[in-house]
Amino acid sequence: MQTFERLDMLRTEVAALTDGGARLALVPTMGALHEGHLTLVREAAKHADHVAVSIFVNPTQFGPNEDLDAYPRQLAEDSAMLEAEGVSLLWAPTVGEMYPMGFASSIAVEGVSAGFCGANRPGHFDGVATVVCKLFHQVLPHVALFGEKDWQQLAVIRAMARDLDLTRPHVTDIIGVPTVREPDGLAMSSRNRYLTPPQRAAAAALPNAMQLAKAEMEMGAPADTAMATLREVLLTSGFDSVDYANLADAGSLQVLEKLGEEPARLLVAARIGSTRLIDNLAVG
Ligand code: PAF
Repeated sequence: MQTFERLDMLRTEVAALTDGGARLALVPTMGALHEGHLTLVREAAKHADHVAVSIFVNPTQFGPNEDLDAYPRQLAEDSAMLEAEGVSLLWAPTVGEMYPMGFASSIAVEGVSAGFCGANRPGHFDGVATVVCKLFHQVLPHVALFGEKDWQQLAVIRAMARDLDLTRPHVTDIIGVPTVREPDGLAMSSRNRYLTPPQRAAAAALPNAMQLAKAEMEMGAPADTAMATLREVLLTSGFDSVDYANLADAGSLQVLEKLGEEPARLLVAARIGSTRLIDNLAVG
């Protein structure tokens, strides 16, 4: 595996790797890799001849009071994990390489960015869309893979790629990969490591409460009723607050009052102490 910090060197290697028609898959990450990321890497290998992974803790997607400085950084450990997975190329730019002096552009994807995490974290999805657009142009992958755990992020990236014609000729496909869960159901996340042991035990209430709400809605309950149950279970199980809990159309992310014919998704963000956990589930 070759690691690059500089764009000119990355571009030379990408050209060499894809010379002769080899396919390249990209797995964008912010590092602090866990089994969820490695699942994306393994899935990527099924779609391409070479897998590239980016590790970049993107400052523009963190709000002023968020955990940018505290976000875990462990490049050597991550690098060893990726090497063991047979990754060809690691793109680990510095902040200065990604956002050189005078950088002044931003991509805003209206609609799907607005609610849920977009409402709680102003500017977050502009930062995500901008950096992912840059990563696509830098790595020129044929396919890019993202975890379904960040369902709204996946919807934003798909909308951006469609609107800005990024799907051809460079990134031909954007693949969502199902969430990888711990044995007790908690979705894997780099932020789980912030939880104290009692908080970690309480966090298992999140997937359980979501399954309960899903079952209620599938038996005909309106979304409001199921969300009230979900909030109550979380708040009596050790969660401090619920940022949002909604049933939404899986594609447009329009909030739904009850299940209909179209694919729907239950989306939740809730906090234990200072840690904010998000999760989502297909319903119906
Ligand atoms: O999901 C993430 O890790 C990040 O939001 C991403 C897609 C790598 C952009 O910084």
